[in-house]
Amino acid sequence: LSNKDEVRRYYNSKSDKYDEVFDTLYFRIFDVITWRYIEPYLPKKSDTLILDAGGGTGRWTIKMASQGCKVVLLDASEKMLEVAARRIEQQHLQDRVVMKKGDITKIDFEDETFDFVLCEHTLFLFQNPDDPLREFNRVLKKKARLIASVHNHYVAALARLSENPSSDNLNTAFRTLTREEHTYMTKDNKVKVYTWTPNEFQEILKRNGFQLEKMIGKGMTMPLRVSNDVFMKKKYSKELYEKLLQFELAMCEKQDALALAGHLQAVVHKL
Ligand SMILES: C[S@@+](CC[C@H](N)C(=O)[O-])C[C@H]1O[C@@H](n2cnc3c(N)ncnc32)[C@H](O)[C@@H]1O
Repeated sequence: LSNKDEVRRYYNSKSDKYDEVFDTLYFRIFDVITWRYIEPYLPKKSDTLILDAGGGTGRWTIKMASQGCKVVLLDASEKMLEVAARRIEQQHLQDRVVMKKGDITKIDFEDETFDFVLCEHTLFLFQNPDDPLREFNRVLKKKARLIASVHNHYVAALARLSENPSSDNLNTAFRTLTREEHTYMTKDNKVKVYTWTPNEFQEILKRNGFQLEKMIGKGMTMPLRVSNDVFMKKKYSKELYEKLLQFELAMCEKQDALALAGHLQAVVHKL
């Protein structure tokens, strides 16, 4: 199978359980910050047309459509789209959302169609992120915004270092840093996680015709400081949640702290 087919197969097999991971401490905080840096950037016109590229089960499509926007949810996985369809119907948002199965590296829309593109938590699946980014640039209207996120390379490497490292563990972390090794979504190592540094991400956006407005970091307290068993818990105290969120919000815009973040989210517009 091609890499694209492996990715599709993976999300087809995960669709029923996909949303569960977002009930954890890590993703509850992650989602608050993600939305905080999407919502104010959404165009305010009533006929706004948005592309949710790799939108999966519609987590962000639903939030954007609830604000009154029209959204095209484009995803390669028919099973993820089935989950999205159920959720969109439950929320009575069918009139504002069009679901399409397709490939974000070959978008079946004309040039300058969209007022806004979101590509959240999806670019990490692409060895060559230029392929989808070039397409986002093409289908966006002039000056219109894209919000996109990637996994941060440094934290991906550092997160592989155990507190009490063995020689093997040190090798793995080093080889992740030098990109000789990767993390994988699947046990058979067929779906790879690609990561970029803050500077690389800026460079990729620039060479695809985007002007950076803002870059934020998500997940600075985790995974570098808070252990996996704590941040992947579904039950935690309100105080822990609130204090961690406060810390994250105080850090997320600090440009010299971006390299500490698990994920990087960029707000850019088409030149
Ligand atoms: C980790 S999920 C993210 C879903 C959603 N954006 C979110 O934040 O929850 C990645 C999604 O990208 C989709 N995807 C991967 N490669 C794609 C491609 N080439 N074209 C369209 N969708 C793709 C997958 O099917 C999956 O639903």
